[in-house]
Amino acid sequence: MESSSSPLDAEAVADLVLLDPLTEESLVQTLQERFRRQDIYTYIGNVVISVNPYQSLPIYTPEKVEEYHNCSFFAVKPHIYAIADDAYRSLRDRDRDQCILITGESGAGKTEASKLVMSYVAAVSSKGEEVNKVKEQLLQSNPVLEAFGNAKTVRNDNSSRFGKYMDIEFDFKGDPLGGVISNYLLEKSRIVRHVKGERNFHIFYQLLAGASPQLLQQLKLRQDCGHYGYLNRESSSLPGMDDAANFQAMVIGFSPAEVTELLEVTAVVLKLGNIHPSWALALPSSHTELREICELIGLDPSTLEQALCSRTVKARDETVLTTLTVPQVSRNTPNEQKKVMGVLDIYGFEIFQDNGFEQFIINYCNEKLQQIFILMTLKEEQEEYVREGIQWTPVEFFDNSIICNLIENSTTGILAMLDEECLRPGVVNEDTLLTKLNQLLATHKHYESKETQNARHVTDTSLPERCFRIHHYAGKVTYNLTGFIEKNNDLLFRDLSQAMWAARHALLRSLFPEGDPQKVSLKLPPTAGFQFKSSVAMLMKNLYSKNPNYIRCIKPNDTKSAMVFTPELVLAQVRYLGLMENVRVRRAGYAFRQLYGPFLQRYKMLNPRTWPRWDGGDREGAEVLLAGLEFPAEELAFGHTKVFIRSPRTLFDLERRRQERVAQLATLIQKMFRGWRCRTQYQLMRKSQILISAWFRGHRQMKRSALIVQAYARGWKSRRLLRELKAQRRRHAAATTIAAHWRGYQARRTYRRYFRSTASTNLANFIYRRLVQRYLVGLAKNLPPLSVTDRTWPSAPYRFLDNTNQELKNIFYHWKCKKYRDQLTPSRRAQLQAKLCASELFKDKKTLYPKSLQQPFRGEYLGLKQNPKYQKLHAVAKDKLVMADSVMKVNRANGKTVPRLLLLTTEHLVLADPKAAQPKTVLTLSDIRGISVTRFSDGFLALHLKEVSTVGAKGDFLLVSDHLIELVTRLHQTFEAATGQALPLHITDRFSTHFPKGDVSITVVESPKASANGPVCKKKGSNKMEVLVQ
Ligand SMILES: Nc1ncnc2c1ncn2[C@@H]1O[C@H](COP(=O)(O)OP(=O)(O)O)[C@@H](O)[C@H]1O
Ligand SMILES: [Mg+2]
Repeated sequence: MESSSSPLDAEAVADLVLLDPLTEESLVQTLQERFRRQDIYTYIGNVVISVNPYQSLPIYTPEKVEEYHNCSFFAVKPHIYAIADDAYRSLRDRDRDQCILITGESGAGKTEASKLVMSYVAAVSSKGEEVNKVKEQLLQSNPVLEAFGNAKTVRNDNSSRFGKYMDIEFDFKGDPLGGVISNYLLEKSRIVRHVKGERNFHIFYQLLAGASPQLLQQLKLRQDCGHYGYLNRESSSLPGMDDAANFQAMVIGFSPAEVTELLEVTAVVLKLGNIHPSWALALPSSHTELREICELIGLDPSTLEQALCSRTVKARDETVLTTLTVPQVSRNTPNEQKKVMGVLDIYGFEIFQDNGFEQFIINYCNEKLQQIFILMTLKEEQEEYVREGIQWTPVEFFDNSIICNLIENSTTGILAMLDEECLRPGVVNEDTLLTKLNQLLATHKHYESKETQNARHVTDTSLPERCFRIHHYAGKVTYNLTGFIEKNNDLLFRDLSQAMWAARHALLRSLFPEGDPQKVSLKLPPTAGFQFKSSVAMLMKNLYSKNPNYIRCIKPNDTKSAMVFTPELVLAQVRYLGLMENVRVRRAGYAFRQLYGPFLQRYKMLNPRTWPRWDGGDREGAEVLLAGLEFPAEELAFGHTKVFIRSPRTLFDLERRRQERVAQLATLIQKMFRGWRCRTQYQLMRKSQILISAWFRGHRQMKRSALIVQAYARGWKSRRLLRELKAQRRRHAAATTIAAHWRGYQARRTYRRYFRSTASTNLANFIYRRLVQRYLVGLAKNLPPLSVTDRTWPSAPYRFLDNTNQELKNIFYHWKCKKYRDQLTPSRRAQLQAKLCASELFKDKKTLYPKSLQQPFRGEYLGLKQNPKYQKLHAVAKDKLVMADSVMKVNRANGKTVPRLLLLTTEHLVLADPKAAQPKTVLTLSDIRGISVTRFSDGFLALHLKEVSTVGAKGDFLLVSDHLIELVTRLHQTFEAATGQALPLHITDRFSTHFPKGDVSITVVESPKASANGPVCKKKGSNKMEVLVQ
């Protein structure tokens, strides 16, 4: 794309809506400037204006197709491809049938434009074998249509002499399914007559130039164009047009048989031109042609001759009128949704030197197309704004419906009057028709004739007799009435069509169905004008039902010259095409409108508030939706029923967003669907797996159960057997027992008979004796050691010996002790006796006792013999001394202690002063009444004296001895030996003592205050004393 022309280039704006200032001159200038830059396409909104360059430009390459494919309409230079793409996308994405209306004068480039649209759609729609076949057929229909329908005219070397409307059908994906091509009013008269400088239909020239000699011979033709009357006996090959090559292209797509039939009919037409009926039979050449024709179509020459001769004049006007249909058009079932794109390429507006019925018809058709344009883009649109309540300043424009009405009105229209004249009985010719027209249309602004001019006193030499003039939207055209009635009648006399029907030529017969004698109808066929009018009406209806896209072709010069721009010529076209008004309405108006409902439906996914469902009204929904998209306010208008969007850019933006969103949603749906599919599949698989494993487990369980049942059965059998065996054994045992008892009983009976009754006792005694003997001998051999401390003794071997054994054990022990005692020395014995006595007195009674166990009773602690100091004392004791020790005497008055020496003899107890070693007190043992000691481990002792004794009068003695146990024991022994009585010993906590001053009760108190050495005596009052001991 060249950068030279940006869309906003002031000199050559790409969209005339942007033109400033907007005048006719600036508009034409812009077109001229763009044309100079080889930008032949220009927009007015989405209408494309195409200026014919008359030279091939490099803008139709596959790369260009790619560039415009799915492009944004305004991002690229204006092009037919862009509008084709827009239409195709609207069709595919918005589901709206489209039509592309291509209008313009003859030679302005309409046919080329239609071909470009077709090839673009073919290129961008999807590929595939079937689709490609359809596309090929659609594209290939062109050469054959052009061959039979196009001819060179003064305006255009390849002028379409018929209207062509092609409907291409697409499926929902946008793939072409097929197409229907409708033709409108072929210019049949061209076959028999054409102006000098023009040509007949291409097919004749193509056939003669392209067919092989064999084919020509088969068709009984000569290659020489000059031979044929219909070709004006001149061979006019055209520069830049290869008839031979086109002939080859034309036959593609037909079967050979079809081609042959077609060419045979073509040859027949060509040859018919060489038969001049008036002198047909006179000339041998005519005769030859006639014969050859009949050979070709399988007809008896006389039949044809008769048919031709009886209606000589009419015969020359005849040729084929048919509707060609693309072979193998795939007609789909009606319920299948299909979309249609129509491309209309119809002959353009024509003004010739001499304009006949054909031009009248052609221009009528163009008038109708212009009406569509005016209605859809100017009138309808403006009316809609008013209807929808959008603020609007009306734009003036010329409405050509008055001209259409002039031609087609069913009572006062020219066509109606023409029909009336044709059907009217009586003298009918062009003059009567003209008179009628003049009468009825005398005051019509767009109708003129000599007569109406005369009536208005206008002198106009340009309007000849037998002519009338119509002021078309595109200019004034003077029509010559000559031939109008004849052509309108379009009558083919019955004998001719019957002759053709009689031919043995399938194609020819099918072309003349009315020739069938059985279908003879006396009704006149409809006139050409009527037919055309109704087919145009049908076409219009068809076009109105679709979304129109316009391509307006402009012819830049009259000379078919490359890159020549004649401003005047273009200005005229700009005027009659109403481009200025178009720009004005466009500028003020809105590019797009749609009912709220469909609009909301289409774009609701763009706003979370309207997606997936909007519950309110459509209008509110659309407003909410658009509010969320934040377009500038001036871009939008809300009518009563429709929403309007001002610039296409906004619409494209909307569409782009929608596409993105739809892609997202599609992904989402795909995701959900895939998830669902996988899940269900997984669940199915899982279910199957569970089923299989259940079956398998069931099978295994059954096997296992069988085993268990078997095991139980076997177990039960075994147990039964066991039970039986046990019962058997019990029976057996019982029998044995019974037998044993029985035998025993018998044995005992027998025994009693033979033995004494004491025998068993004797026997037992014997056995016992024997056992005792063995026990005793064994015991004697294994006597335990003789040690006194060892108390072991073997256990009894038999229970009946237990008592004996115990007895023996005791005897043995006593014997052992006796033996031990016997061997003791007298002193040792006395010592042990003393110990024994101590034990009897104190064991478990005084806590001091256990300590004394270890201490041997030495008796003599003072060393009376050795110490000379104690000689006197020693003398007192002499040999009778039992014990000598030092003690502490407790003062009865204050509890304090004083040391004393104590001597015990077999008769006396002596207390002496340790210093003087002089006896202080001497007690006869019999004076002692008793002794009291504490329970504790102290050495406190109270010596109770008989009050009657001499010493006794002094009161009891309280002493503390370190060898209390020995002292008391020896005192006890000695007392017993001396008096033969036991000395009373009290082990108590509380006792009373007798003192001269009165009795004192002594309480022994365990107290930590007492020293370890001895008790502490405390006098409490006059007759109480506490002894604190540990
Ligand atoms: N886009 C174009 N590029 C080049 N030449 C063109 C183009 N359009 C038309 N022409 C030329 O103009 C001639 C007439 O065009 P055509 O489409 O047959 O006119 P119409 O159908 O309007 O009568 C064509 O034969 C071709 O030479
Ligand atoms: Mg054409």
